[in-house]
Amino acid sequence: MISKAMEPFMAGSSQIRAMFEEGKKMAKVYGKENVYDFSIGNPGLKPPQEVFDAIDEINHELDPLYVHGYPSNAGYESTRKAIADDLNERAGGDFFDVDHIIMSCGAAYSINMINKCIFDPGDKLVVFAPYFVEYGNWARNWGADTLVVPANEALEFDPDAEALREILVPEVKGVMLNNPNNPTGKIYSRKALDAVADVLREAEEKFGHTIYLICDEPYRELVYNDADVPFPGDYYADSLIAYSWSKSLSMPGDRIGYVAVPKCAEGHEELSQALVVAGRVLGGTNAPTIQELIVERCLKSRSDLDYYKRNAHDLYEIVSEAGLECIYPQGAFYMWIKSPVENEYEFVQAAKEERILITPGSAFAGPGWVRASFCGSNEMIHRSRESWINLGKKFFPEKHQ
Ligand SMILES: Cc1ncc(COP(=O)(O)O)c(C=O)c1O
Repeated sequence: MISKAMEPFMAGSSQIRAMFEEGKKMAKVYGKENVYDFSIGNPGLKPPQEVFDAIDEINHELDPLYVHGYPSNAGYESTRKAIADDLNERAGGDFFDVDHIIMSCGAAYSINMINKCIFDPGDKLVVFAPYFVEYGNWARNWGADTLVVPANEALEFDPDAEALREILVPEVKGVMLNNPNNPTGKIYSRKALDAVADVLREAEEKFGHTIYLICDEPYRELVYNDADVPFPGDYYADSLIAYSWSKSLSMPGDRIGYVAVPKCAEGHEELSQALVVAGRVLGGTNAPTIQELIVERCLKSRSDLDYYKRNAHDLYEIVSEAGLECIYPQGAFYMWIKSPVENEYEFVQAAKEERILITPGSAFAGPGWVRASFCGSNEMIHRSRESWINLGKKFFPEKHQ
């Protein structure tokens, strides 16, 4: 018998994963090459060469007792120092010391560590729709409910500061911000971020407590056309960064990331210490050691951005040719496509009939839209063209005369 507390998690199991599993079944029936899986964000690129070079160096040059032993719970000091220096350089200021970086098992773990430290049962997390589906679970883990700021198409899916103001209540202790965004592929505009920061400062004043902006940034480096992802501490002091190398170095299975607490954040010292304890008592104990040593050596390395850029471009061309409306991705590796019918599940089903697997927007609190992940192979994108065109013909026969 499972606990009562576990039941809601079971009920809300992921639609993305369901689609991914469906894809595997379909591949057995139709053949792998005839199924076009745009469902999941699993990088189709291998990690860059620097990662393999770092593994060699670690294996050949470091003491195995050091490499495989317990580090301190926060992670290796050399790794955290290198990250703090790198972040300070990026932010153009003295925001982080070594003690402000706490290594974690990826962004999911980072966010759970943060949530454990800032929420008491009955507190609330605010998210901006559309949003990554697990945020609600990660708040519920710590007894916090989620309040959703509705998506605003008129703002082109930028976070809606006015709607945020209306939703805020004294129980709100954290606001989640994912930039670049999954599922829209948007980089939030500086104007929208400043407006959000103004509303949060106002609320902190009104309610008399800190509201942390939890900045989920696993896609920070996956940006196209030299777009700028503003450093959160620049526009809102009480911001906490959850980072991972799952996407930027194509290492999602390696489970490596960190939480960064800028010195400008309220209670930064106590919070940093609490995060170390959170990582330990959550059972992770510490982040994986070899992965820490790898990323320390690869802080300037990136996955092949041109590869994703080409995928974004080619999928956009095909989807547009099919007659569908979509947002050109500025970052991450997702395309947000408007469903031609109100109920996007019908569209997802029609796509499945063409052996295209996409995720309904409702899985991200974005009904009426769907998400196509383009981190797979470019060749698969091109192979899927005919199916996309057929899909377009079903909904827009007049465009395909
Ligand atoms: C927006 C967002 N946040 C967090 C995660 C979790 O990433 P990680 O593998 O680092 O735990 C994902 C994974 O797809 C994501 O898309």
